[in-house]
Amino acid sequence: MDRCAPLGVYDSGVGGLTVVREIRRQLPAEQIIYLADSARLPYGDRTPEEIQLFARQIITFLRSRGVKMVVIACNTSSALALPVVREEFSLPLVGMIEPGVKTALKMSGEGKIGVIATQGTIDSDAYGRILRKHGAQVYSQACPKFVPLIESGQFNSSQMAQAIDEYLGPLRAAGVDTLIYGCTHYPFLDSQIRAYMGEIKTVDPAVEAVRQAGRSLAEMDLLSPGKRGRDLFFTTGEPEEFAKRGARLLGQELDLVEHVDLTRV
Ligand code: DGL
Repeated sequence: MDRCAPLGVYDSGVGGLTVVREIRRQLPAEQIIYLADSARLPYGDRTPEEIQLFARQIITFLRSRGVKMVVIACNTSSALALPVVREEFSLPLVGMIEPGVKTALKMSGEGKIGVIATQGTIDSDAYGRILRKHGAQVYSQACPKFVPLIESGQFNSSQMAQAIDEYLGPLRAAGVDTLIYGCTHYPFLDSQIRAYMGEIKTVDPAVEAVRQAGRSLAEMDLLSPGKRGRDLFFTTGEPEEFAKRGARLLGQELDLVEHVDLTRV
């Protein structure tokens, strides 16, 4: 495997860009190939079988582009597909759940941990299971309205304010001291969530996930010595639309966005 090979990263949409942001911060020498499965978003209401099929298609596509590792920048896919597809690919795969749990346990004082995520991730109990095993009191909340509102850029709309109140009100009332952003879209809502929750620690699992990715690349002697090519972005949806949204969220133009049909790769 070539050290200069790119890192594959995927999500259902723009959420994984919060992970891209973190990769650029921690591992700036790595070239990224990103896939947004925008045509099949949201993933949150999909069955485990669908999420597993999508993961297989996407990892196969990213592998065909020569990536040395895949960062699953989607909690729903990390919860529902990673445990299954890990056995099927020889490529190193990094997910979001275990890094999120590890960070929250380290940060939480009282061990009253809130998890907000998609319906699929909450139903899987992927976070809750491990957190409870470590003695935490877990307050899980599915937030199905967040992803469509974030994808359409409605951060400060009245619908968003209502959704925040509906989902976070019970967690605030329960007095959670730490809140895990169990969906990669949610760090884009960080300022709204903090304003609503007041004094609270928030966990973006991407920080530890990228640290782990960097560590395993180093162990395999696969850290890039310097960035060669531009980052590439693919979407199963509309490239112009994705480029516009992505640039707005990342605060910089996306290098190159192309359409891909995963049923043909
Ligand atoms: N950003 C994804 C996650 O982390 C999925 C959001 C969705 O498509 O529902 O779960």
